[in-house]
Amino acid sequence: MSKDKTVFQCLECGYETSKWLGRCPGCHAWNTLQEAVKSAGLRRTTAGRSPSAQPVLLFDVPILEDMRLKSGLKEWDRVLGGGLVPGSVMLLAGDPGIGKSTLLLQALGHMARLGPVLYVSGEESLAQIKLRAQRLGLERTESLWVLAETSLDTLEPVLVDRPPLVLAVDSIQTMRLDALESAPGSVSQVRESAAWLQRLAKEKNMGVFLVGHVTKEGIVAGPRVLEHLVDAVLYLEGDRSHSFRLLRTVKNRFGSTNEIGVFEMKESGLEQVPNPSRFLLAERPVGGSGSVVVCAMEGTRPILVEVQALVSSSGWTQPRRTFMGVDANRVSLLLAVLEKKLGFHFLQQDVFVNVAGGVKLTETAADLAVVLALVSSSLDVPLPEDLVAWGEVGLAGEVRGVGHATRRLAEAVSLGFRTIVCPRGNQEQLAASNPHVQYLGVRSVEEAVNQLF
Ligand code: TYD
Ligand code: MG
Repeated sequence: MSKDKTVFQCLECGYETSKWLGRCPGCHAWNTLQEAVKSAGLRRTTAGRSPSAQPVLLFDVPILEDMRLKSGLKEWDRVLGGGLVPGSVMLLAGDPGIGKSTLLLQALGHMARLGPVLYVSGEESLAQIKLRAQRLGLERTESLWVLAETSLDTLEPVLVDRPPLVLAVDSIQTMRLDALESAPGSVSQVRESAAWLQRLAKEKNMGVFLVGHVTKEGIVAGPRVLEHLVDAVLYLEGDRSHSFRLLRTVKNRFGSTNEIGVFEMKESGLEQVPNPSRFLLAERPVGGSGSVVVCAMEGTRPILVEVQALVSSSGWTQPRRTFMGVDANRVSLLLAVLEKKLGFHFLQQDVFVNVAGGVKLTETAADLAVVLALVSSSLDVPLPEDLVAWGEVGLAGEVRGVGHATRRLAEAVSLGFRTIVCPRGNQEQLAASNPHVQYLGVRSVEEAVNQLF
């Protein structure tokens, strides 16, 4: 008889080693290796019955778009690539408390109109689920079934006898298979439970949503373990102190990964935000220095957001640098460019940069707006209210062209912006697409600052 083997598995990426290490060689995370027992009989006991293989004519295979189940929740369907593909498994990941359970229950409420859906929670009791459903106005939804359970073995007969159209498991880190000795949330439980659900999803042609918590400390197995196993990975992002939420696809076997869904967290759950730019600019101060609007691309959607900077003299020996919603390294680079090329001095200045609404800007196209916000605050000179800026800034202070320029322009114009500060490289194309606004095409940061201040 073969013996059980002790291995060390990374909670983040699932990397296995025979001895403990402080740092995972797979994903370079610290302190994520955890001891696990690998049972020799594991594969056999959890492998399940595979259906007999039956080739079909390619001609007879139905077209994907015809099979998609549309929930009617537009932002949700969009992120899924147009609707749910039966038999597919999706991971809904995000920080704890960001709104995963809320969003999923709402989406299930919509999908329940198409057929029976089952929400399995390992985190909340039925009474708690009911309470949440009441807040969301879903308590009378027909075809919405709920179950508070953590054992997949107990769940099996239910799923085999009466497979729902859609199954949601909240969260995968609370589920366990009895055949495995390790605790729920360990790498092997998470991976095997997900693989088990995936086989069942394909066999019964049901759509499966798995909720996965992301923790920086790696206390529970990170959803990265699951990313290659599932068909699509959706991340729900946002700042918990703000109500703005982005649902982003980072992987989708059945659609584009460029789609995002935008929601606002309200008393009665997540509400769709059809016009995110208007929502994000609603509370913008008028006539204040240090505020510049940028048009950033989130996937294929242009979104207007306000970048704020505050530069003030520092009372500290080491001046403060606090950057929220922007990459700190990027801002440091831009500060250095302003010092070198335009003679600004930030050595005795506290510098704060913030992106309103808790949005995270990842694009280098935001550089020019950050620079202008910094200069505007330094000089205490406000910029015109109808100004929007974008462009990548290089180390020599040059302003480089960015993609999707006409899409950015259309979004800015639709919200009433009439002064466009953009890279010179983009200007001609923009002027051709809309000659009715004012363009300030710039080649360098110096040119932009000299013309605007
Ligand atoms: P939840 O969906 O439980 O987060 P997750 O499943 O990702 O851990 O949502 C958590 C937060 O959302 C909680 O702090 C309360 C808030 N919330 C609302 O603001 N409105 C609502 O209608 C609901 C249900 C929750
Ligand atoms: Mg939850």
